[in-house]
Amino acid sequence: MDSLFADEAFERRPRLVSPGAVWLPGYLDERAQEWIIARWSQWQAGPVPAHSTRIGGHPMSVKTIGLGWHWRPGAYDRRARDVNNETVLPFPDWMTRLGRQVIDSAAEAVARDDDQPGSAASVWGLTASDYEPDVALVNYYDETAKMGMHQDKDEYDPAPVVSLSLGDTCIFRFGNSESRNRPYEDIRLASGDAFVFGGPARFAYHGVTKILPGTAPDHGRLSHLGGGRINITMRTTGRD
Ligand code: SIN
Ligand code: MN
Repeated sequence: MDSLFADEAFERRPRLVSPGAVWLPGYLDERAQEWIIARWSQWQAGPVPAHSTRIGGHPMSVKTIGLGWHWRPGAYDRRARDVNNETVLPFPDWMTRLGRQVIDSAAEAVARDDDQPGSAASVWGLTASDYEPDVALVNYYDETAKMGMHQDKDEYDPAPVVSLSLGDTCIFRFGNSESRNRPYEDIRLASGDAFVFGGPARFAYHGVTKILPGTAPDHGRLSHLGGGRINITMRTTGRD
């Protein structure tokens, strides 16, 4: 049994998962989680509601809202041509500030940890104040939704991706840049966790293999959605 509890997957401390990839468990406090979760209803009110993006003719099991840009496989557009042709909501300023804070904290956490030589910040190629994300993909996972292993590669700018998790815990599989296969690590992303991947990890394959129903803390429960998980990823499209 000792080995079960020694498993890294259950350890919740900030750490470098692979060069360029940093996990910050419990980054958002209770108030911040509640506040961000409450934003969902505004975003859902449109003009472009959450929808299941089609990939190769099949709808994804997650429902997505784009802020700043609308994403379709291979394309970013201001309008949601595959939904209702409306223009998406702007990328919120508070999210830029939050993204910069996450980058800053992630860099600090890595630098502080003697067990982890090699600074993630130096490989991201930017400092927090230069981080200018212009799109957020807000994904809602019901209890059965998943996301297959993929690379985030529709952005032209190599800036890091900042990810925030709210609601139920998921199993987030974070791998390598060569293929969907091993080596990868399964990480339990819980409500309030932040995760940054950039530099050599920017094109790492990743996915969500499972939602763990009913695991959200009280302040992180998505009661207006009947449970499940929200993930927000901020990215820099490099488009205009
Ligand atoms: C994504 O890969 O875009 C989402 C990852 C996640 O839900 O944690
Ligand atoms: Mn992704």
